[in-house]
Amino acid sequence: MARPGPDERRRRVTTHYPIAHTPPPQPVAPPSGAPRPRLTFIGTGYLGATYAICFAELGYEVMGIDINAERLARLSAGQVPFHEPGLDELLRRNLAAGRLRFSADFAEAASFGDVHFICVQTPQRADGLGADLSFVENAVTALAPHLRRKALIVGKSTVPVGTAEWVEQLVGKHAAAEHDIEVAWSPEFLQEGYAVEDVLRPSRIVLGVKSSWAHSMLHSAHKGVFDLAANEDREVPVVVTDFATAELAKVAANAFLATKISFINAMAEICEVAGGDVTHLARAIGHDPRIGNKFLRSGVGFGGACLPKDIRAFQARAQELGAGEALRFLHEVDLINQRRRGRVVQLAADLLGRSYGPAGPDLTGTRIAVLGASFKPNTDDVRDSPAVAVATKLVRAGAQVSIYDPQGMDNAAKALPEAEYTASLTAAATGADLVCVLTAWDEFRYVDPAVLGEHVAGRRIIDAMNCLDMPLWTAAGWEFRGMGRPS
Ligand SMILES: NC(=O)c1ccc[n+]([C@@H]2O[C@H](COP(=O)([O-])OP(=O)(O)OC[C@H]3O[C@@H](n4cnc5c(N)ncnc54)[C@H](O)[C@@H]3O)[C@@H](O)[C@H]2O)c1
Repeated sequence: MARPGPDERRRRVTTHYPIAHTPPPQPVAPPSGAPRPRLTFIGTGYLGATYAICFAELGYEVMGIDINAERLARLSAGQVPFHEPGLDELLRRNLAAGRLRFSADFAEAASFGDVHFICVQTPQRADGLGADLSFVENAVTALAPHLRRKALIVGKSTVPVGTAEWVEQLVGKHAAAEHDIEVAWSPEFLQEGYAVEDVLRPSRIVLGVKSSWAHSMLHSAHKGVFDLAANEDREVPVVVTDFATAELAKVAANAFLATKISFINAMAEICEVAGGDVTHLARAIGHDPRIGNKFLRSGVGFGGACLPKDIRAFQARAQELGAGEALRFLHEVDLINQRRRGRVVQLAADLLGRSYGPAGPDLTGTRIAVLGASFKPNTDDVRDSPAVAVATKLVRAGAQVSIYDPQGMDNAAKALPEAEYTASLTAAATGADLVCVLTAWDEFRYVDPAVLGEHVAGRRIIDAMNCLDMPLWTAAGWEFRGMGRPS
């Protein structure tokens, strides 16, 4: 293969510039004439609303755009429509300061904004593993015809590689050519539950750009983040790269994290047949700094609106590009993850003395308390939540299931109306033959096993997150099962 020429090399080179040491790109004036670029965030879900609110907090003039009228009404009234620690106060403060507003009007967004961030959902397609890009297409084609001056459209949604080029073509078709609308891609790495911190103090910023104007405009759009870092004597690593690498950065990061989780869950499967304890194994290998402890906790596996659908879309895209084999391992990662959900049901049958046949166990007549519904602690998000998936399997097996979660009950009740929902942990556990901890909320970690034991019908517990102190529970007379741990 021919070596890339200098221009190609420069285009592909990854620039890691600590902001304190490297001069930013030449500033350019925002097309609106405002002193700082005005920002719109199109799609005000977990990602877009958090961004809109946090960037208003950083001093930008911000507009959040959505097609969901109820969501917009709540945001405009100062109510965050989902649970994200710290966000409510910032929303109210910035609405009151007049820096933040919400609208459904794309014409208003176009006349207001200099930089438009696309933050809509990219779920798994109904007919396959790939990503459904119809929301991205609708957002771009709704905005583009209204643009009356130069602007930058920046993708933040997680997308298959090649999407930014396609968005550029869409913009070419739907926006007036004389305004020379540009496109960039800046993937998002925030974690629900820590989103405010992740947006204000990101671990890195990735900018996929084609022109120095786009780079400069994006730099100005993030200057608040850089200034905050400088005030706190921190550096924000910035990776400036091409579209494809920027898009891949997100899915590669998620593929890596999913693989690490499934790796330790595969070790749990081995521990289960070999008599080892995966929690000790994880510590034994995680102290090696080349491996690291993070994301090395075995449990019920990963879920949420990102990891599962992102590794599937990544495989589908690699297949389309003729490199399917490179990501075949992600299929195994997915299968290991799915098996953990079934493992909890197996453990439940075992503890309740029910046999496990080809159609699963018959749990009729049992009462099971499920502690946890959100896909991880500190969020109310139950999208592809392992907790809800396991609860669904238990209901289907005939158990009477009562669920308690500190934040995710309303969303879970929509996803699984057949279960009972209780106002407290104790109420869920009252009369239960078995308690299953399926989300590692602190409220569950530190519950007193002796006190809870007074309320249940049978002292049996499955710690599907390996987050409880096993000796404490067994000492209080509980029959205890963990994931990948000896009984
Ligand atoms: N949630 C996360 O933690 C997270 C983290 C990193 C990346 N992402 C990625 O960010 C994207 C958004 O995720 P999310 O969790 O915020 O999704 P979400 O479903 O919570 O929010 C999407 C919002 O976009 C709105 N929307 C849909 N079509 C629209 C249109 N045509 N115009 C305007 N608004 C429209 C929806 O009404 C909804 O409010 C996804 O690609 C996701 O993979 C999410």
